[in-house]
Amino acid sequence: MKIAIIGTGNLGKSIAKGLLSNQDVTSLYLTKRNIQELKEFEDNKQVIITQDNALAIQKSDVILLAVQPAQAAQILIDAKPLLTKNHSIISTITGFSIAAIEHSIGQDKAIIRAMPNTAIAVGKSMTCLCSNTQGKQHIKIAETIFNQLGHSLQIPEPQMQAATVVCASGIAFWMRLIRATTQAAIQLGFDAEEAQQLAMYTSEGAASLLIQNKRHPEQEIDRVTTPKGCTIEGLNEMEHKGLSSSLIQGMVASFNKINTIKKEQL
Ligand SMILES: NC(=O)c1ccc[n+]([C@@H]2O[C@H](COP(=O)([O-])OP(=O)(O)OC[C@H]3O[C@@H](n4cnc5c(N)ncnc54)[C@H](OP(=O)(O)O)[C@@H]3O)[C@@H](O)[C@H]2O)c1
Repeated sequence: MKIAIIGTGNLGKSIAKGLLSNQDVTSLYLTKRNIQELKEFEDNKQVIITQDNALAIQKSDVILLAVQPAQAAQILIDAKPLLTKNHSIISTITGFSIAAIEHSIGQDKAIIRAMPNTAIAVGKSMTCLCSNTQGKQHIKIAETIFNQLGHSLQIPEPQMQAATVVCASGIAFWMRLIRATTQAAIQLGFDAEEAQQLAMYTSEGAASLLIQNKRHPEQEIDRVTTPKGCTIEGLNEMEHKGLSSSLIQGMVASFNKINTIKKEQL
């Protein structure tokens, strides 16, 4: 696969690292204006680092857009004469609709929107995908890329805002939960390094149980809660203090905010 990442910043670098850790990439063009920030990729023989978006587009089949929303429209307008129906155009730009992309480059191009998260750098991103009509024939290409970098799920475009909260902001929410668990473990007598290990690997184990056993979380909770025992005592205390409720309210607040930001941009 010949891939170009247009705008290799935080997310673009994470995608590049993930892509380079598997064998399918024939060439990987990485673009940005300040290319000295891409020195870490210089030794990869498949990688071509350039400021020239046009060159990257012409030499690639899959164009991954990872610039900020404010830069997107001009980059797409400049790219329009170079883009063909054979290109798969995958945009990771938050809140930038398929209609807005079509407005810049035309409806006849295969456009896919992807909402990954930063765990893409370690091959563990949950990435949501949607496409325009032309993009439906190319979405398998996007699935192949993002399934090698974690998991992907096709969703309707109107759900992309919610997916941003659950999956992209979700990384921050989970980090806070893991940090809080670490703080509790320190209070219970572990040193900081041990406490973080206990928190990280226990959360990884909990998620793995659900993934592999395909069970509901409550079924796994039932297996570790003895009547009158310490687990149910702790869980109920957490719920009295609003654990589930505060998580749900926080995510709904995040969703309301993302919708407000979108309206302000219109
Ligand atoms: N971070 C996440 O978790 C995440 C998750 C999902 C989606 N997203 C979306 O992904 C996009 C990128 O996010 P980010 O956090 O990676 O932003 P970022 O770090 O600011 O990266 C954007 C990059 O675009 C480059 N750029 C700007 N103008 C350019 C141009 N004309 N040609 C080529 N490159 C150009 C910038 O580098 P130079 O200034 O050197 O050109 C910059 O490194 C955003 O739209 C964001 O909404 C991010």
